[in-house]
Amino acid sequence: MNIHATTAAPPPPRFLMCPPRHFAVTYSINPWMDPKAWAESGAALHATAQRQWDGLRHALTAAGAAIEILPPAPGLPDLVFTANAAVVLGGKVVLARFRHLERQKEEPLFAVAFATLAALGLVADVMQLPAVLKFEGAGDCIFDARRGLFWLGCGFRSDAAAGRAIARHLGARCVALPLADANFYHLDTAFCALPCGAVIYYPGAFTPAALARIHAAVAPTERIALDRADAARFAANAVCVGRSIVLSSASAELHRALEQRGYAVIETPLDVFQKSGGSACCLTLRLDHRLVAASAAVSAPASRATATARRRYRAGT
Ligand code: ARG
Repeated sequence: MNIHATTAAPPPPRFLMCPPRHFAVTYSINPWMDPKAWAESGAALHATAQRQWDGLRHALTAAGAAIEILPPAPGLPDLVFTANAAVVLGGKVVLARFRHLERQKEEPLFAVAFATLAALGLVADVMQLPAVLKFEGAGDCIFDARRGLFWLGCGFRSDAAAGRAIARHLGARCVALPLADANFYHLDTAFCALPCGAVIYYPGAFTPAALARIHAAVAPTERIALDRADAARFAANAVCVGRSIVLSSASAELHRALEQRGYAVIETPLDVFQKSGGSACCLTLRLDHRLVAASAAVSAPASRATATARRRYRAGT
């Protein structure tokens, strides 16, 4: 037996990030954005943004992540939110089609970024949806590794109809979750699927139909429901790297709930980005999510939604 082959370290979780050199709030496309307030204290906020972004990058690399950098571009203040660039599974990519004109200008840069990542061998098979279908990447399309499916937030930015094309291209089904509260306009502002199968979510962000879908797939013991205070500090907008969960801030109760499940919670302040409606998860895009065959499946909560996924797939880590 070749001992070196069996002990090789797995590749690190890999993320795409964009430095906040041109980050600002210059328009308003969600209720958090106030360009006038930003203009009044912009210079100080800009320095804080760089410091907070460096803190996030450092927290992720310290937890074992590898970071790919997208060069910032003037005039595109939201380019820093790379979660919205695309969604990636098994190296296949579906690029974003933004709802608002202000962010549509980012699309060509994300296309170039993925062509570069493809040339580096980090992704392949990059797909563009028809322009009529709106879809804001992993910000609205969250991979649930344990259930082998995507949760697709819709209503504010992304269209439920995009789910079919995404499922076909990436080979995992999309469960549409209609959103109900404009403050939580992207799914990742109110929902996080952890690798163990637990789900952090803010119930107030969802329509009754969406809640019914979450509850059908996620057993009560695997639900971590946030109160309004944790939701308002974007505690659901968390990034998971192995057993570390990186977020801006969380209540003692949420810390306990996550630690009981074996996670280390790492807080790194990102409040400046919340002035644009974003936080940790929005500032990152996972590039290496994978589906793994069901033979090694671990037990998951029984439900129709998970049973189908479990027959075919198990989560990669
Ligand atoms: N200002 C940006 C927008 O409204 C924030 C995007 C946050 N990204 C996210 N994945 N939630 O589009």
